[in-house]
Amino acid sequence: MIYSIFVTHEIPDEGIKLLKADKRIRLEIYEENEQIPRRELLKRVKGKDIILSILTEKIDKEVFDAAGSQLKMIANYAVGFDNVDLVEAKKRNIVVTNTPSDQISESVAEHTIALMFALAKRICEADRFTRVGKYKAWGPKLLLGTDFYEKTVGIVGTGRIGSGVVHRLHDGFNMKILYNDVKRNTQLEKETGAKFRTLEQLLKESDFVSLHVPLLPSTHHLISTKEFKMMKKTAFLINTARGPIIDEKALVKALTKKEIAGAGLDVYECEPLIDCNPKDNLDLKKMDNVVLTPHTASATLETRQEMSRLAAENILMFINGKKPKNMV
Ligand code: GLV
Ligand code: GLV
Repeated sequence: MIYSIFVTHEIPDEGIKLLKADKRIRLEIYEENEQIPRRELLKRVKGKDIILSILTEKIDKEVFDAAGSQLKMIANYAVGFDNVDLVEAKKRNIVVTNTPSDQISESVAEHTIALMFALAKRICEADRFTRVGKYKAWGPKLLLGTDFYEKTVGIVGTGRIGSGVVHRLHDGFNMKILYNDVKRNTQLEKETGAKFRTLEQLLKESDFVSLHVPLLPSTHHLISTKEFKMMKKTAFLINTARGPIIDEKALVKALTKKEIAGAGLDVYECEPLIDCNPKDNLDLKKMDNVVLTPHTASATLETRQEMSRLAAENILMFINGKKPKNMV
């Protein structure tokens, strides 16, 4: 049997090479270096057996219908899979896979810590200050930041990424660790002395709060007006998970009213927009106590190649009649 595969965006070559080496595979890749326009996506998936999608493609009923009933698999090039309608996929017996791995978790954990550092040590602000020639004299109070040492970090979600962040902060910076999760993580407690807290208690006690939960109906706007009010005025919030976990409007208000000290964001509620509704004048971009990266927490050469390889391996397992390693 021949399998037609559509890849919705150029990806690093390791996985592509694996797919190309298999004689049963007919590969078609969207060749422009941009997000595929929706209409083009709907056109190109027609007749395909497998779609290798990136996280910005909404893979829903419309795409399944456009592809046709022969569609068998969605290999999502991402850890998150909130872009895929799993209920609809299940109804149609379409297999969905993602690309979680130690490598990607390490990358995201490192990026999370980079954002924490950038905030606490005011790196981006200091860089801007220095570049424009404002550094005229050393000063005892110039750009004072915050230490990690013996501070408390609250981790919401202790899967592979959250746990990776915990280990680094515990082993490297002697931080006190609080965590919240849907269930107790006794291994993490044993290894790092992490203490379980309700979300409310975690928010009240933490100097840094970092989000590592998937986007689900239950985590949508998990952090909103009420939660910001629980946080310390000196606390920093970091999000390398998914934008809608934070109510962005409430975040801007909390930052403006100085209910929290700052935020480090890699993901946004209406990505790639930084403001969901530009007319609202949400000015995250103008705030000095905010560090912004463009959903690049896993953007390292190593990780993006690994994701490419994993997506391809899942496809190869599937066409070999085996259960793919990363079914969701
Ligand atoms: C990135 O956000 C991913 O889910 O892989
Ligand atoms: C700072 O540069 C110091 O020497 O304390």
